Amino acid sequence: MQTLLQIQTSLFENNGQSSLLANRFAREWRDTNPDGRVVVRDIGREPIPHLTAERFQAFLAKPADRTPEQQAIAGFSDALIDELRAADVIVLGLPMYNFGVPSSLKAYFDHIARVGVTFRYTEKGPEGLLKGKKAYVFATRGGLYAGTALDTQTGYVRDFLRFIGIDDVEFVYAEGLSMGDAPKEKALAAANTAIARIVGRETALAA
Ligand SMILES: Cc1cc2nc3c(=O)[nH]c(=O)nc-3n(C[C@H](O)[C@H](O)[C@H](O)COP(=O)(O)O)c2cc1C
Repeated sequence: MQTLLQIQTSLFENNGQSSLLANRFAREWRDTNPDGRVVVRDIGREPIPHLTAERFQAFLAKPADRTPEQQAIAGFSDALIDELRAADVIVLGLPMYNFGVPSSLKAYFDHIARVGVTFRYTEKGPEGLLKGKKAYVFATRGGLYAGTALDTQTGYVRDFLRFIGIDDVEFVYAEGLSMGDAPKEKALAAANTAIARIVGRETALAA
């Protein structure tokens, strides 16, 4: 049984354009994977705390030495990682807010980057430990950034996911969403077409 983990980050929760695209992808994926399981992690609605000094010390402490508070903090991070590890397919809704990724996503990344758990250092450099996964990212923006230096999201998200071992990542963009009705409709239609193409392609590959 395949598991799809859908990570939502929109401030508009399920009505965000990134959430709507991710929802559509998950729905179509489930139609073609009737035995598949979809798990939703909505970090827009249930934010992850900032990685404070106190929280990071909890990660660093040896499990046997952790205070009850540190156990709870490390346990929260462990649960996020277990959820990610159990996923075969990851779907990330990625709005652009104030020229970057949602701060909730940064906090999530800070809680799943754990040395010895999701990555390790080797003589050849860092090695990601979450292997064999496929990720789809639905990037929604008011303006136009893809392929320009102002796209601060694509490289960062790709680099981070690669760092923890997820190197098969595909981006679908819906841009110009604040540039009027016609450009918005066109961008969303193109993103929906991309979803149908991806799900159709994956189904054909699996057959
Ligand atoms: C707080 C906030 C900040 C935003 N900052 C940007 C920005 O820097 N660049 C941009 O192109 N669009 C910006 N937008 C527009 C969003 O990218 C656009 O509404 C997109 O649909 C957000 O995805 P969502 O609908 O899934 O939340 C911003 C929107 C909000 C609410």
